Order: sequence, then structure tokens, then C-alpha cells
Amino acid sequence: MSRVSLKKSGLNFGHPPETIAFWKRLVREALSLSTPTPLYIFSALPIAERLAEFDAALAGAGFQFKTHNSKLRIQHWLSCKTLPVAPLLRWWREQGRPIEVVSEFELRAALSEGFAPENILANGPAKHHWLPRFELRELSVNLDSRAELDALLPFAKKLNWRLGVRLLTSEEYDPDHPQFPTQFGFAPDEAVTAIKKLQRAKARIETIQFHLRTNIPSGQVYERAIAEVAEVCRAAKFNPLQLDIGGGLPVRHVLTRGGKVFDGEFGLRAFAQMLRRASKPFPELREIWLENGRFVSAGCGALVVKILDVKERRGLRQLICNGGRTMNALASLWEQHEFLLFPERTGKETLTAVCGPTCMAFDQLARLPLPRSLRAGDHLVWLDAGAYQLPWETRFSHGHAAVLWHDEKGLRPARELQSFENLWSQWK
Ligand SMILES: Cc1ncc(COP(=O)(O)O)c(C=O)c1O
Repeated sequence: MSRVSLKKSGLNFGHPPETIAFWKRLVREALSLSTPTPLYIFSALPIAERLAEFDAALAGAGFQFKTHNSKLRIQHWLSCKTLPVAPLLRWWREQGRPIEVVSEFELRAALSEGFAPENILANGPAKHHWLPRFELRELSVNLDSRAELDALLPFAKKLNWRLGVRLLTSEEYDPDHPQFPTQFGFAPDEAVTAIKKLQRAKARIETIQFHLRTNIPSGQVYERAIAEVAEVCRAAKFNPLQLDIGGGLPVRHVLTRGGKVFDGEFGLRAFAQMLRRASKPFPELREIWLENGRFVSAGCGALVVKILDVKERRGLRQLICNGGRTMNALASLWEQHEFLLFPERTGKETLTAVCGPTCMAFDQLARLPLPRSLRAGDHLVWLDAGAYQLPWETRFSHGHAAVLWHDEKGLRPARELQSFENLWSQWK
């Protein structure tokens, strides 16, 4: 299996050779099992590595300092929406880690995979329309609006929920239109009113939360947001036990369509030191909660597609594959990922479009120089497909891809390639 010649493409994804060797091994094994394509492979090992590296940086920054005689702990919540795959939820639970959900389906997935309610955090907007249906004690719930607060307060008191308030800091805005805020959380003055109301009602208000957006380029953005949180807490005379800073850490080894890295200014050590500094204004803090999706799981997946047909016109070679952007990889609209070629193909390269099988010109995974020796029947492996590819998959003219799961116990099927019967049987 060969790696695309990065020199000719002008791209540098920066994968260490061990990562490439790991994926080559896994893909070779997957194809030897005659698993049909398109196929996602997800592995727990890169997730474990990423978390270990993160925790080492936090510990290295002397993070286990004491506040009021109790250790300040870090808690990583699994961002369920980023990769809602049952074996991942099981693996994560077996590590003794908690999960963050943002919908009724995600809550039900967490419950059916055995998470105890005290290890589930409910986030997201308009939860008052579904959360009251679940009589779950000791749940953690971050409130998103006044209407939610009013509707959920009686349940929170009855079921002893650990409540938080999500704050809309000035660092949170619509990334496509930065002049506009996002639709999430309480504005600062509303947050003060909400916290006071919860305190008066003797609810168990313990957490203050924000989630800014994704691919945040530097720790300074978080530091500014945490300073705003401290201001709101001061105004509300609230000493949170948990500071939840959401997700948003930038992805590694993935480039923008313009060829830039997302994590150029970002360093884990500097981030850990920032966190330590920024937590000082919270005298009773016991835990910092992190809900990173992309940073934790992007590197745990690969999409394998097969070339079905080859064309060439107006100087562009086109590979028509059985998977692509429309069905499997919407994020290829704004991201470039490294490819592996299977079997090994080398030699003269030409500008090549990697297309999916749907009747959409949009269905193009990438356009880059690839060896002319690639032919129908070969496989292409699109790396770093772990975050937000599967939740955005479609059944556009075709069924869902197959999924293989890999962990310490080996590689095994997790989902079959969707059959016509399965797809069509949903209709009455
Ligand atoms: C509340 C919340 N937490 C965490 C995340 C994960 O974000 P990311 O994948 O950028 O880390 C999201 C993503 O939308 C979110 O809405």
C-alpha cells in the first residue's frame, strides 16, 4: 500500500510514520476479510493515545494542584454526536469515562450501552421537549435557556440533577458569519438571573459551561472566555464546582481546502498551562470538564472506497469510486485529508478528481496529483475520517457504508453494508 506523494501534491499532513504503518496494517487486514466497501474503519487505539498525550500535558503543567484541600480533576466527556458508534460507547464506558449527549436519541444510546445516569451529561438546546420523559436521577444537565430552566426546574429538584448554566461568551459566534452570535446558552445578564433563580429555588446548581465552536486555533481564545465566565460568576455570587469548557480543540493532520493546518498555533502544553492559570478565580472548583469531539476522535477513523471507473477529459483524470463526499464525507467540502493507495501505485502522477458514485458534481472527495497507474478495482483510503463523517452520512441513491471496529481485542464487523431490503423496509 503506498502513500500519496506529498511532495508533488504540495501538501504536508504531518502524520508520523507509525500512524501510517498502523493504518496500512488495519486496512490490509480489513480487505483480507473481504469486507465490502464503502467501509469506515474506526479504532479505539488512536483515541487512547490522544487522551494519554493530553493527560500527560495536563499533569506536566502541574495540573493536580489543590484548591481548598481537594484535587482539581479533569474529566473528559465523550462527545457522542461526533462519532455515534455503539462499540465506541461501550469501549469508552469500560474505561470508566462519562458521556455527553445532545438529543433524546443520544441519551437513549448512552442508556442502552449501560452508562449510569450520573455519568451522562445532557447538553444542547430545547431539552425541555424530551428530557422530562426520562425519570433519571443524578443526571448532569447544562441548561440552555430561560424556557428550559422554567420547564426543567421541578424535575431537576425531584431527581437531584446536577445543574449547569451554559453561557454565551463574546468568544462564541457563528463561524461562517462572525458578526452573529450562535443560538446557544444564556447571554451574560440572563445567566446571572438564571443562576440567582436556581440558587433561590435551592436547586443543585454546580456547573458553568461554554462551548465556543470547533477548531479553535489557540488557548488564548479559551482564556478570554473563561475570564468572562469568572465575571458572570462574580456578579451572581456563584462559586462553581465544575467549569465545563466544551470542546473545540483543533484537529491534527487535516488541512483546509487552501492547504493550511487547523492546529498551527495550538500546543497542548500551553493549553494546559492556560487552564491552570485561568481556573484561579474559581475558589471552590473541583473539576474541569472537557467535551472534545474532533480532537479526540478525528484520527480514529479511515474511509475505504473502491475505484469503479476511470475517465480523463480536459487534462483531468477522474476516478469514480463507490463512496465519496455525498454519501460518506461531507467534511471534504472544507477539509483535505491524506490518502493511502491500495495496492501500492507509483509512477507518473496527474491531476486527479476522486469522485463518489452519486449523480452530483458536488460528489468529489478530493482533487490532487495521483499516480496514473491507479485503476478500477484499486482501493483508496481517506485518513482521519473519525469526526463528523459518520453522523453526516447520507443514503443518497445508495445504502449506508459498512463499519469495522478495532480495539485491544482486534478488528471486527460493527455494521453491515446497508442492503436494499433494510433501506426500503422503513416505508409503510
Ligand atoms: C456542546 C458541545 N460540546 C462539545 C462539542 C464537540 O466539539 P468539537 O468536536 O469541536 O470538539 C460540540 C460540537 O458541536 C458541542 O456542541
